[in-house]
Amino acid sequence: MALVEVSRLPQHVAIIMDGNGRWAQARGKPRTAGHERGADAVRATMRAARRLGIPALTLYAFSEQNWDRPQAEVNALVDLLCECLVSERNELVDNEIRLSAIGRLHKLPQHAQSRLQKLTSETKAYEGMTLNLALSYGGREELVDAVRALANKVHADEIDPSDIDESAIAQLLPSMDVGPVDLLIRTGGEQRISNFLLWGSAYAELYFTEELWPDFDANSLYCAIEAYQGRERRFGLVPDAEDAASTTEARKELERAI
Ligand code: FPP
Repeated sequence: MALVEVSRLPQHVAIIMDGNGRWAQARGKPRTAGHERGADAVRATMRAARRLGIPALTLYAFSEQNWDRPQAEVNALVDLLCECLVSERNELVDNEIRLSAIGRLHKLPQHAQSRLQKLTSETKAYEGMTLNLALSYGGREELVDAVRALANKVHADEIDPSDIDESAIAQLLPSMDVGPVDLLIRTGGEQRISNFLLWGSAYAELYFTEELWPDFDANSLYCAIEAYQGRERRFGLVPDAEDAASTTEARKELERAI
């Protein structure tokens, strides 16, 4: 934790939690055992982020493409989600963590949707941190939904096509409710975005680690933030301009407004 400068924290951290299956296979266990340990890593990371004072944490828990995994694994993931929505309730309440969810949530089984709705509504007033779960989520799918909504608004004469700007689009992206991503972490050694938060990650700092998700813990998060704090964020501007710091801040403000 001493590695982290608390005055310069990323405001929104997003994580692609990869490597559960390999973690389990390396131990001769079924893949679902990796997901179970992955849930422990979720708890540890959520606690560490909250303790540091990070305002928003988005976790890629289930992608739109994950529906094509073997049915038994899909069922195990949904069951695990349902268990966590019960077992982590007190953790969220005690730490004033607001739960939110993005993705095509209507595709989740009804009992999972109900538990999700219950906990999101119970925690909706909390301001300690937002834990945002991406479930049945895809960045392209989110953009498709936003484009369709915009087309409907144009059709209904609610907006003129010439008024469509970045802000009009961002307002229709649920993932942008917690602002653009500052730090995007991917565990498990692969170096790709895999259809996660495509819009919000436009200026995110990317951090890839070989560590498998079930091994990720508070210390891993501190290391990622230390790396982030060592980066120079330019948002397309030049590094040595006299007022680089203030223009960068201004750009950041603009990004947040969008
Ligand atoms: C990717 O690892 C991980 C997932 C598809 C699921 C993530 C789920 C969890 C961390 C568990 C619980 C989370 C919550 C929020 C309750 P992989 O299976 O693709 O791993 P591999 O690349 O090693 O096969």
